[in-house]
Amino acid sequence: MSLVPQRILITGATGFIGRSLVAPLVAAGHSIRATTRDLSRASPQPGVAWVKANLDVPQEVEAALEGIDAAYYLVHGMGGGRHGFREADRQAAEIFAAAADRANVRRIIYLGGVAPAGEPSEHLASRLEVGRVLRAGRVPTLELRASLIIGVGSASWQIVRDLALRLPALVLPKWTESRTSPIALEDVILALVGGLGLELPEGAWFDLPGPEVLNGRQMLLKIAALRGRYVPALRVPLLSPSLSSWWLKLVTRADFSLARELVLGFSCDLLPVDDRYWGLIQHRPTHTFEAAARRALETEPPLQGLRGVAGRIEEALIQGIGERLGRRR
Ligand SMILES: NC(=O)c1ccc[n+]([C@@H]2O[C@H](COP(=O)([O-])OP(=O)(O)OC[C@H]3O[C@@H](n4cnc5c(N)ncnc54)[C@H](OP(=O)(O)O)[C@@H]3O)[C@@H](O)[C@H]2O)c1
Repeated sequence: MSLVPQRILITGATGFIGRSLVAPLVAAGHSIRATTRDLSRASPQPGVAWVKANLDVPQEVEAALEGIDAAYYLVHGMGGGRHGFREADRQAAEIFAAAADRANVRRIIYLGGVAPAGEPSEHLASRLEVGRVLRAGRVPTLELRASLIIGVGSASWQIVRDLALRLPALVLPKWTESRTSPIALEDVILALVGGLGLELPEGAWFDLPGPEVLNGRQMLLKIAALRGRYVPALRVPLLSPSLSSWWLKLVTRADFSLARELVLGFSCDLLPVDDRYWGLIQHRPTHTFEAAARRALETEPPLQGLRGVAGRIEEALIQGIGERLGRRR
């Protein structure tokens, strides 16, 4: 596919990934149509036409895809604890694949998740399923699979950061020994933009590994160290992913259902199969986890306290630890 200016649809354009993809595509000369279910969430900018589209509604998808050359699929329905999100996401992908075919779209680029070494969580199973549905359609679909993406506004980054920075000790359940290959937002955006120029006669999927493999404990320690926190680490191997997801309610302001799914997805290694894709687009991810985390910490607003009971427990914990340290001195 050539890199001549194209008419590009970005679904999920208000999301963490979608909103970072708009500017590079506009800068490359493409004309952008961006979707949201609620136009009050749109951020108007030159070169971008916002349209209201709910991917569950065939007529809205049809209208959004009219006259489009290539479409980015950056949507998931898991936020807010939506019941039955997996079925809804599968149906939305089916609607989209069929409508894209009717609209003669030439390419779909979908950002999904890395396949785990063991049984996938509901969220990861859903991400893989959406990829399969889109690739089974007639429009050649490029599915790119990332694990943990580091950048301001990422729910998974927010959760990992909160686990590292909020508590007086690093709590390390067994799942923090699971390994993955985190990747910086900037590298993911380059991968998504690069997908437009790739020869793609039929559907294909590729993993997007970052430059290193780390387990959860190593990531938490690195984030804590970046903030100069050298706190005790408490191993709690019996705290199962399911139990510790409830405990997350006390630790992070992130959407609880997302936090829960992140932890359940980390029950086993989430390792990319290979790094072939980077060779195809002639880019190597250069941001280490530490560099990406430092950048996120420097650019995001300061941590806010937790809400409600969790906030009061957090204050009491911090105050209690402070007093104990004071008495020891
Ligand atoms: N964040 C990560 O660390 C990460 C890691 C690996 C893969 N990914 C993948 O990257 C993609 C984008 O994730 P993200 O982190 O950017 O998600 P996000 O920040 O949660 O944004 C989700 C987007 O989906 C849109 N959306 C949800 N339901 C919709 C529906 N029924 N119809 C139309 N739009 C709908 C929302 O738009 P409105 O609410 O404005 O309608 C929002 O823009 C997903 O496929 C995700 O699996 C993300």
